Order: sequence, then structure tokens, then C-alpha cells
Amino acid sequence: MTSNDPLLQPYRLKHLTLKNRVMSTSHEPAYSEDGMPKERYRLYHAEKAKGGMALTMTAGSAIVSRDSPAAFGNLHAYDDAIVPWLRELVDDCHEHDCKVMIQITHLGRRTNWNKADWLPVLSASPVREAAHRTFPKTIEDWDIERIVADYASAAQRMQAAGLDGIEFEAYGHLMDGFWSPATNHRDDDYGGSLDNRLRFTWRVIDAVRAAVGPDFVVGIRMVADEDFDKGLSKEEGIEIARRLASSGKFDFLNIIRGHIDTDAALTGVIPLHGMPSSPHLDFAGEVRVATKFPVFHAARISDVATARHAIASGKLDMVGMTRAHIAEPHITRRVMAGEEHRIRPCVGATYCLDRIYEGGGALCIHNAATGREATIPHVISRTDGPLRSVAVVGAGAAGLEAARVLAERGHKVTVLEASSQAGGQVRLAAQNPRRRELIGIVDWRLAELERLGVEIRYDIWAGVDDVLALDPDAVVIATGGLPQSPPLGAGDDLVTSSWDIIAGSVKPAENVLLYDDNGGHQGMTAAELIGKAGSKLELLTPERFFAPEIGGMNHVPYMEAFHRSGVKITINTRLKSVRREGNQLVATLSSDYAKGWHEERRVDQVVVEHGTLPLDELYLELKPLSKNGGVIDYERLIHGGDIFPAKNPDGRFLLLRIGDAVQARNIHAAIYDGIRFGLRI
Ligand SMILES: Cc1cc2nc3c(=O)[nH]c(=O)nc-3n(C[C@H](O)[C@H](O)[C@H](O)COP(=O)(O)O)c2cc1C
Ligand code: SF4
Repeated sequence: MTSNDPLLQPYRLKHLTLKNRVMSTSHEPAYSEDGMPKERYRLYHAEKAKGGMALTMTAGSAIVSRDSPAAFGNLHAYDDAIVPWLRELVDDCHEHDCKVMIQITHLGRRTNWNKADWLPVLSASPVREAAHRTFPKTIEDWDIERIVADYASAAQRMQAAGLDGIEFEAYGHLMDGFWSPATNHRDDDYGGSLDNRLRFTWRVIDAVRAAVGPDFVVGIRMVADEDFDKGLSKEEGIEIARRLASSGKFDFLNIIRGHIDTDAALTGVIPLHGMPSSPHLDFAGEVRVATKFPVFHAARISDVATARHAIASGKLDMVGMTRAHIAEPHITRRVMAGEEHRIRPCVGATYCLDRIYEGGGALCIHNAATGREATIPHVISRTDGPLRSVAVVGAGAAGLEAARVLAERGHKVTVLEASSQAGGQVRLAAQNPRRRELIGIVDWRLAELERLGVEIRYDIWAGVDDVLALDPDAVVIATGGLPQSPPLGAGDDLVTSSWDIIAGSVKPAENVLLYDDNGGHQGMTAAELIGKAGSKLELLTPERFFAPEIGGMNHVPYMEAFHRSGVKITINTRLKSVRREGNQLVATLSSDYAKGWHEERRVDQVVVEHGTLPLDELYLELKPLSKNGGVIDYERLIHGGDIFPAKNPDGRFLLLRIGDAVQARNIHAAIYDGIRFGLRI
């Protein structure tokens, strides 16, 4: 039956028929190996293809020249060796009628010289890029010749690999570096008038067209308004869009609004949770009206309803749902199957993007299968082995995920939860109004557990007897942890935990010192809430910069809140002890760097964050009653085989412990534990 859902209507782009309107825009997941898209990269895109999307734009900024060294695992479009790897990826996606394109670029000043071949990096003019701390050299005539030729040969490689098209990246990179008055201060043929500032772009597209011919699809992902006083104005940006569209040399525009030369600016282009949804959709629609040309766009269009509106209202031809597919690669398939309500939501945490800037691969905060397609399935099938009765103790992120996976595999699962609500520390984190979308991690799992018929018993502080009463074949301990104090010389009884502030059980006092000796969201959330409550706050950390476990994107809203509420930040300093004097507390500070250095702070409240200690009592009590004594064979966990060694012939059940019940970690680690162990029972 043909659907009248606007999202599911085919779209004709030149000679290509895109089977629906859903795409993933280019993003570098940093899964490349030696600059090549090998198995992990291929399986990642093939999963999206299986999930029903019409177009996947591969690579994030595949680099065309050697003096554009990879800044975050970018693919090497300048290397012939890439062709067979891409061909395999394309073939796999084509099997599911998903078209595959690739973004190519010269990063310009958005990288740095101290990588790969240590070549100088360049831009239209020598304007520093803050995010990469680059002082680029001014591009010379011979650089322009070389790079134009590099674009052409890279495009040829992409065509040879069987890709359905390419797009140029033109926001924050070399190409638009010529467009923007902020980065182009030249007085030659490449600077000044818009004609001159577009000269490099025309040279590139002409060389590329000469290389790939008129029929190959070539688009451009371009900024059409840099949205800051020194940058490219909306008027000039739309004029550029008009000229490119009417040139007959391009096939689509993929519209960006904003600039990306600082972390703070980048969150305007790629907003996180707590920031507006689809903030630039109307603008992209304006460009479509102004150019009457195919327009693609992505920026926090995370849910199907907004995506559908983007197409139905005629603002876009293709809607990018990029992080939404990192969280759930099967969005379109689910829409087609009438299972829209089952789509795992992207909660906007932007753990995915933060990880690549910290040198890791993109991982979704609550989908541990993404980027691990070789070992962890996105769709969990029923086990062929024996069906078991499993008790899961704890309904935090780890317990809920384990319960979901076990139930999907056909096991009978009962969850015992100490509190009256599920969610554990995720529910606590969602107490920050700015991060409330995190509750989607819990709600999605609760809905899945209901569908799967899993019983959750609340308000049970489970002891050995409660567990044995279920007569389980396996027990999963996911009891989480409780906050611990940092090691203090004195005053443990005088400090308040960050959890109490976040949960609202202790009100922030007037004058507060917060000591974060963890480095993650917990301390920062407490600080944000204390600052917003109107308290005077000093945030103290022994680290070189605050919250080192939080990436650049997530850093931005915290810093904004701290500026606005006047939070004082002190780095490289420890809290040594706390004592009471009258109705105030005196905190003594020390330094790892200067032996004997001390300072004091007189405050009303000292809040501390020092991670959690596992709640492991039940686990320790169950160990001697279990078959495996709680032992997990790590070699087999990683390479396959039964992970539960037989240790106790009289044991009654298999026992394992996951999430923060093992050690203080993060949400992704808890979810990963839940699925990878859940798959092994
Ligand atoms: C891990 C990651 C890497 C990205 N890398 C690139 C990139 O190299 N080039 C690019 O144009 N956009 C990149 N993006 C931006 C996405 O294409 C997209 O514009 C952004 O995620 C906003 O869309 P969304 O809200 O649908 O995720 C990246 C995004 C993520 C999450
Ligand atoms: S990490 Fe957060 S933003 Fe990124 S895909 Fe997952 S849910 Fe979405």
C-alpha cells in the first residue's frame, strides 16, 4: 500500500530516485582506520540503510589534501586506497536501496599543523581559529592550484567508488573561509567583492565538473548566514546560495546557519538538549524559497513529527536526522511499520559529538550497538538456547537495559527496584531542567518493558530472600552506587553531597563552596542549580580545567550558566578539610603543585562530588550461592563463548553485576553493560 506520509514520498534528485525524504547528513564518527572506511565504518552505514533511510552522506569532511590533516578521524579522500573500501560500503547500502554520497573538503584552519605530516595549515587570511588553536598561513597562488586539483582528483575517486554523489563542505573550512569577511582580509582577486570571494569556489566546482562530468551529483553544504557581526551576513549568504543554485553546476544545497570556530558557536549549529528544537528550519525554508532549488538541512530535527512538518510545509526537500539515527538507525522502517512510538529517542545529550573531539569514536549515550554493529545487534532476536528466569535487581540505566535485552531474547524477567520510580542516576540527572530530555532514556525502556511483559516490583530493598523467592536461573545485580565523600582530613560530617542538591533534598545556602573531585556532569549539575538558585558559589577542582570528563559541547551550557550566575571557578586546588566555626564552615584548601600552600574559605555550605561507591552488599551475599561465584570470563566476553565459569557445583543461579554496582562510571557504560551481558545469558 502506498503511503501518503510526506516523509515517505520519493524524491527525484537529478537522475536519482531517493525512496523517501529522510537522510543522515555527513558526520565523522571517527571509526576510520588509517583514514579508511573499513568494517566498522561500513557496518555503521549499512545499519542505517537497513533501517530504511533514503540517503546516507558518508564521512565527515573527507580530506582532499595532505595539508588538511585529519582533525577527528576524517577519511583520506586524497588516497587511492580509499576506493575499494568505499565501494564495499556503497554496495552494502545499495542492497537496501539507500543512496550513498560523501562530503569532501579542505579543512583550512579547522585542524592544526601538529598532526599527520606536520604541514603548515592555511586559510584565506591568517585569522586564528579558536577551536583548534590554529594560526593559519595565508593561502598562496601555488596552494590554490594544488588544492583545486586535489578536489578534482578526490571527486574522481569518489565517482570511481560508485558513490551516488558528493557534497563540498563550506562552513568553517577553507572554501567558505574565502566567503566570510571575518576570515578573508585579502586585497587580491580572491578578496573584497563577492565575485572575488567566490572565485575559489568556482575554480573548485569547474575543476570537479571537468573531472566527473555533468551527470554526477555534486552538492554543497554551505553556510548561508554566519549569524555574527563580523561574519557572512544573511543577505550575502542567500545571494551566494542563489548564484550557486543558478549556475547549473550544483545539484543541491545543504543549508547551515551559524559559525563553528568556537565550541560555544558550534552548539548554535548543532544544538544540544535544553536548546531550541529545529532552530534553523525556517531559515533553510527561506533559502529554498529564494533559490527554488533542492534544499537539505539538519539541526536538531530529532523527532518524526518535526521531520514530517519540515517536508509537509515545503521548507526542505530532504530532512537530515543525523543524531536521531545515531540513537536509532531504524527510524524509517519503524515509521513504515506503524511503530513510530517504538523509536528510541535521541535525547540530545551529544555524547556522540563530544567523544570525537576528545579523540574517541562516536558513541550514543543510550544505544551501545551504534558503532559496535559487528558484535552488538540493533534488533535483538530470540535466543535459540534455553529460556531462563532472570531476576534483575535495580531499575537504573544498567538494570533497565539488561531487562529489555533479556526479555527481547525470550527470558522471563522480573525487576526489583528499591525506590518507587525507575531510572536511578539518570532520573537524578534529569532533575536539571536543561537536561530533562534525559528521562527519555528511562521512559523508552519502561515502554519497551511494558510491551515485553516484564514485571517491575517497586519499593523493594531486595535481600537474598527476595531474590531466592523468585527461584531465578540468573541474577543481575544492577543496584548502582551511593555518593562517597572525597578523602578529607576532617569534616566528612559537615559536607553536603551533590546528589542532595540535585534531588532538592538540601537547599543551596547563601554562600557555597562546591568541590568537584569527579570531573563529570554530577558536580556541574549541582553547580548550575546552586548558581541558578541565586547563591554565591565558588567551584573548586583539583584538575587543570573544570569538568574534564565533559566534552566541549556539553561544557558550553554549563559555562553559560556559570557566567550568568557569577560562579567563581578555581582550578588546580584541593579541598583538604572542613571545620565549623560559629554558624559557618571553614574550608582549608591545598595544592598538589605547591607543597605547604594553604588557603581558607569561610562559607555556609560545602558541597562535594566524588563519584559513587557500589551498593554491593547483595552481590557479595549472593556470590557463594551462585554457580559462577560472580566470576565473568573477560576473554570470552570479548572473543565469544560461555562467560560464566562453573565454580560452585551447588550453586543455584548465574550471578553477574553491572553498571555502577561495579564501579562509578557513566550512562553509556551502564547501558553497554546491560546489553552486552544481557546478550550472554
Ligand atoms: C559525531 C558527529 C560528527 C559530525 N561531523 C560532521 C562533519 O564532519 N561535517 C559536517 O558537515 N557535519 C558534521 N556533523 C554535523 C551533522 O551533520 C549535523 O549537522 C548535526 O549533527 C545536526 O543535525 P542533527 O541534529 O540531526 O544531529 C557531525 C555531527 C556529529 C554528531
Ligand atoms: S549521544 Fe545523545 S545526542 Fe548523540 S545520538 Fe545519542 S541520544 Fe542523540
